[in-house]
Amino acid sequence: MGRVEGKVVFITGAARGQGRAHALRLAAEGADIIAVDSLEDIATNEYPMSRQSDLDETVKLIEALDRRVVALKADVRDRAGLRAALEQGITELGKLDAVVAQAGIAPLGHPDPQAFLDAVQVDFVGVVNAVEAALPHLADGASIVATGSLAAMLPSTTDNPAAGPGGQGYTWAKRAVASFINDLALVLAPRSIRANAVHPTNVNTHMLNSDIMYKLFRPDLPNPTREDALPAFPAMNAMPVGFVEPDDISQAVLFLVSDESKFVTGMQLRIDAGGYLKARPQQPQF
Ligand SMILES: NC(=O)c1ccc[n+]([C@@H]2O[C@H](COP(=O)([O-])OP(=O)(O)OC[C@H]3O[C@@H](n4cnc5c(N)ncnc54)[C@H](O)[C@@H]3O)[C@@H](O)[C@H]2O)c1
Repeated sequence: MGRVEGKVVFITGAARGQGRAHALRLAAEGADIIAVDSLEDIATNEYPMSRQSDLDETVKLIEALDRRVVALKADVRDRAGLRAALEQGITELGKLDAVVAQAGIAPLGHPDPQAFLDAVQVDFVGVVNAVEAALPHLADGASIVATGSLAAMLPSTTDNPAAGPGGQGYTWAKRAVASFINDLALVLAPRSIRANAVHPTNVNTHMLNSDIMYKLFRPDLPNPTREDALPAFPAMNAMPVGFVEPDDISQAVLFLVSDESKFVTGMQLRIDAGGYLKARPQQPQF
């Protein structure tokens, strides 16, 4: 028996990166997956979004694990489209046990104020839309997981003026996700539905491996490369690592989706190599 045997999990942003890693880790532990991704670039976001070939690869890898998958193009900003995609997945797979709201962008450095709104729409409203689409289908005891961000919890990182309106929007959206999950957990507790947020440090995905992130980590250079940024990445963490791998986050998501965490709710679970402690050394609050 896998740790999430027989569960059906809805994952946004599943074509690559952390979303794909979550899908594979959950499928390896017995889950069937409803995978959605927008597969379209956003003008204020400097690095490209996934393509159909990325989503096809996620499907191939899940099927190689002998699990079922329904993969559809859907944008988390489009509430009706997202709902329709999820409902098609539920029709094919029979039910829904968990939501993993992973899709996200980092439109940092773009001077247009629209970047602020794009970050809010994808990184916050997209999470609300995923939860709203899922809620009518979730049985008591279900699990909701949303992705926040260590960087957004720390001062002068993504809200650094150099990150522009999109950095401000990213920070606002991720803090709003943390607050939303906190209060959602209380609202859903009488039904034993859990809502938790994961807050990763740097993760080795397209978002981190982008020119705009290199510039954020190496503001001293005009056109920094990944090689230039690598020595700067560990500044984020207390442990001596520059980034973690997507599956390091998936292990936490697996725990939160599984019944092992059936009494864990409202958590802001940092998978951050001690980054938060380093920046905000204080006594724990009880
Ligand atoms: N990579 C990091 O260093 C890091 C650190 C902390 C938090 N995060 C969070 O992780 C998420 C990004 O995931 P990743 O690191 O795997 O990056 P990624 O860019 O590789 O993956 C993001 C996925 O989301 C999809 N997506 C983007 N906008 C969408 C939309 N409107 N609708 C549906 N799908 C959409 C993209 O096509 C892509 O497949 C964001 O929420 C981000 O805040 C990332």
